[in-house]
Amino acid sequence: MTPRTAQPTRLMLAPMQGLCDYVMRDLLTRIGGYDECVSEFVRITHTVHSRPAWLRHIPEIATANRTFAGTPCSVQLLGSDPENMAENAIQAVRFGADSIDLNFGCPAPTVNKHQGGAVLLKEPQRIYTIVRTVRQRLPENIRLTAKMRLGYDDTGLALENADAIAQGGASLLTVHARTKVQGYQPPAHWHWLNTIRERAAIDIAANGDVFTLQDYIDIRQISGCRHIMLGRGAVIRPDLARQIRQYESGKPVQAALFEEEIGDWVKLFFTLCRQYTDNGRYPAARLKQWLGMMQQAYPQAETLFDRIRPLKENAEIQAALNRFFQ
Ligand SMILES: Cc1cc2nc3c(=O)[nH]c(=O)nc-3n(C[C@H](O)[C@H](O)[C@H](O)COP(=O)(O)O)c2cc1C
Repeated sequence: MTPRTAQPTRLMLAPMQGLCDYVMRDLLTRIGGYDECVSEFVRITHTVHSRPAWLRHIPEIATANRTFAGTPCSVQLLGSDPENMAENAIQAVRFGADSIDLNFGCPAPTVNKHQGGAVLLKEPQRIYTIVRTVRQRLPENIRLTAKMRLGYDDTGLALENADAIAQGGASLLTVHARTKVQGYQPPAHWHWLNTIRERAAIDIAANGDVFTLQDYIDIRQISGCRHIMLGRGAVIRPDLARQIRQYESGKPVQAALFEEEIGDWVKLFFTLCRQYTDNGRYPAARLKQWLGMMQQAYPQAETLFDRIRPLKENAEIQAALNRFFQ
């Protein structure tokens, strides 16, 4: 399987609304392995967002579009009106964004009802018009990428949609290897990524169900893609990208241990959450969400989760963390 171009591999951290927010992007990119990350989607409806709104959604804009660790962060837009999408893209760039990603994959019913996200996959021509309009209005040096699923009900228009995005002028297309209707039901259909990669005139990043290093090896083999986007697996195993890098560079792969490195990251995450907002419930909610997900990979996360679950005050949670990882 020959890669389509000689471009280097890119390992990308997926946009995940309500999960991979500013603090999670900060933490995961500090742990390392990522070439880039993508913001949670910003809904584009009838207005053009103000500077405070852009900075609230993507604080990285204020730091040259880099996370604390220096990893580039793209701004993801979700909407359907080409003019308004373009206006907002330009506005984001005016305030500092240098890479825009367009979301054609969101399965949320409210989003789809307003003609945004995956519902657009029924109409490749509309997708083309959106991508083309945004591309034409953005300065040339601003990168434009897109993300889609295999289709809405079925895969019948997968290639047309990929072509529409390519012809519209995007430079990279991430494909989540499921239709909208398939939701998050396993399996992800990695062989479809290979079909799209072989036929579409655009670089493809493969996405869907990479939870372990072995999944990464398999998705690369089956899809033939050299660019891979990690979503939930990146949160469940926070060193997954680092393991992949170790593997790619021929070094021994050393998975982080929960009681050691991961303990430090859990404490750091809680500290970063507390620094990020004075909303009292945010740090506890985020920590519980993360530990809840990490239980899938680390039995100790379940023990810690059970201890923290009844706690509400940040100070008592901090004390519980300190006791657990002492
Ligand atoms: C909680 C959650 C929120 C998501 N939010 C977004 C989003 O804002 N934009 C987007 O393009 N995809 C979003 N996705 C889809 C992911 O980027 C990714 O395509 C999907 O989770 C499949 O990859 P994975 O199996 O590696 O998680 C979201 C997924 C999850 C689980």
